Amino acid sequence: MKPVVTKSGAACGAEIACDLAQDIHDATFREIEAAFHDNIVVVFRRQNLSNERQIEFSRRFGELEVHIVKKYLLPGYPEILLISNIRDERGEHIGLADAGFTWHSDTSYRRRPSRCSLLYAKEVPQRGGQPLGDTVFANAIAAYEALPERMKKRLAGLKAIHRYSARRRVADSPRPKLTQAQLDETPDIAHPIVRTHPYTGRKSLYVTAGECVGIEGMPEDEAVDLIAELDTHCTRPEFLYRHKWQVGDLLMWDNTSSMHLAICNYALPERRLMHRTTVIGTVPV
Ligand SMILES: [Fe+2]
Repeated sequence: MKPVVTKSGAACGAEIACDLAQDIHDATFREIEAAFHDNIVVVFRRQNLSNERQIEFSRRFGELEVHIVKKYLLPGYPEILLISNIRDERGEHIGLADAGFTWHSDTSYRRRPSRCSLLYAKEVPQRGGQPLGDTVFANAIAAYEALPERMKKRLAGLKAIHRYSARRRVADSPRPKLTQAQLDETPDIAHPIVRTHPYTGRKSLYVTAGECVGIEGMPEDEAVDLIAELDTHCTRPEFLYRHKWQVGDLLMWDNTSSMHLAICNYALPERRLMHRTTVIGTVPV
């Protein structure tokens, strides 16, 4: 049966009515994938998924990444990264507590960055009946298309340099410092600033101030200014969708054509627990 897709009304985002605990036939999967490409961010509400089921559904979009920060992988399920502010009995965070506090696209520091990420909400902080910890998405296709022609010409062929360790963390970030081996595993990588979607062929901006430290062949100060200008442009209100979480949401987003930002407006005892799977994508072109 064709899943019902309801658009958010914002620059991207849609809800797909589908119980992912049931078998998803190929024809239904193709409808879901088409809706995903069309809307960039899609949510499946009120899901009841086992770890195996989340992994299985995620794998239909491609090979899964095992995140570089091994400390926060779900025991027994290395494909699932815990995102959480919860602490264990020793007072240590059980998951990444400061994920996504600057605009970024997941694993853009990889040679083959993520195609999409899937985040399953197990616990959502609330205050006064309102959910906290929203995630904001920017539609990078709409942002590219809105650029003046002279800027599109200027950007053609340019590559920005992405650096994993460039991302700003909270001052008291609890995540372990990267080892030399992990740093060696994530060298600086140059990707096209304007990338072409591997499935739809649409062009989008692929650059963020939080991750990009320069542009190949461009003086550093000029490059930093251009990156900041593009970041500001891409995150203008008309390109945004803000997701308000409910327990049971499986939210997935297209990392090839959007950036996102986690809003950290909660603190213990307001608990947040998410299970993330990350699908490896193609080399950006
Ligand atoms: Fe992220």
